[in-house]
Amino acid sequence: MLEKMGDFFDSRLEMYEEHQLNEIESAKEFYRFTAQCLPKHEGAMVLDLGCGTGLELGYYFEINPSAEVTGIDLAKGMLNEMKEKFADKKITAIWGSYFEIPFEVFSYDAAVSVESLHHFTQEEKTGLYSRIAGALVEGGYFILTDYFAKSSGSEAAFREELARLKKEQGIKGEVFYHFDTPLTLEHEIQALADAGFSSVELLGSWGDTCTIKASK
Ligand SMILES: C[S@@+](CC[C@H](N)C(=O)[O-])C[C@H]1O[C@@H](n2cnc3c(N)ncnc32)[C@H](O)[C@@H]1O
Repeated sequence: MLEKMGDFFDSRLEMYEEHQLNEIESAKEFYRFTAQCLPKHEGAMVLDLGCGTGLELGYYFEINPSAEVTGIDLAKGMLNEMKEKFADKKITAIWGSYFEIPFEVFSYDAAVSVESLHHFTQEEKTGLYSRIAGALVEGGYFILTDYFAKSSGSEAAFREELARLKKEQGIKGEVFYHFDTPLTLEHEIQALADAGFSSVELLGSWGDTCTIKASK
C-alpha cells in the first residue's frame, strides 16, 4: 500500500535513525563523507533538502558548529526531532516540499541532500536543480548523496511499478507517495548539467550510493 511521503517517514520516526545507519550499506561512512564535503568556514550558510531528523547535520555540526542551516522536509515529526536535537545550533526548519518552498536566491554557500531525491523524475529534478543553483552564492555548490539505479532498464521498471500501484490504488494528482524510483547515475548527472551547474563530479561511491558535487 503506497503511503504519502511525510506520513511514511513520520510513522517510522522511532526506528528511523537506527535503520538508516545500520541497515544501509556503508551509511556511517557516507554520512561522515557528505558532512566533510560541506563548507568549514565560520557562519557557513547551508540549505538541506529533505533533512529529515538531520542525520547528516549531526556529522556536519561536529565539523562546523557555527554553520547556519535551513532544512526543508515534508515530514513534520522528522523536522521536530531535528529541531530538538540541534536546539543550540543556528537552524531553521521549514515544513513543506522543496518543489514548492521558494529558496532565497544567492544566499547559500552550499546545498546538501542525502537519501531524499530518489523519488522523482529526471525532468522534475532538472527544474529543482536549477532553483538550487539560483539559491547558491557565486562559487557555491550542491552535495548530493543518494542511491542510483543500476541500469536504464531498472530505472524504467521502478517508474512502471509506481504507475501500476497508483492505478491499482486509484491515486491521481500531484501528491508525493513513498516509493523509490532512483535514476541512473548518468541521468542524475545529466539533470544537474541541464540545470546549469558549471561542473558535476563524482566524489565517492559505496555500492549503489554515490556523492556528487555540482558547482555553480
Ligand atoms: C530517507 S529520509 C532522509 C533524511 C535525511 N536526509 C537523512 O539522510 O537521514 C528522506 C526525507 O526526504 C523527505 N522528502 C521526500 N520528498 C520531499 C519533498 N518533496 N520535499 C521535502 N522533503 C521531502 C522525507 O520526508 C524524508 O524525511
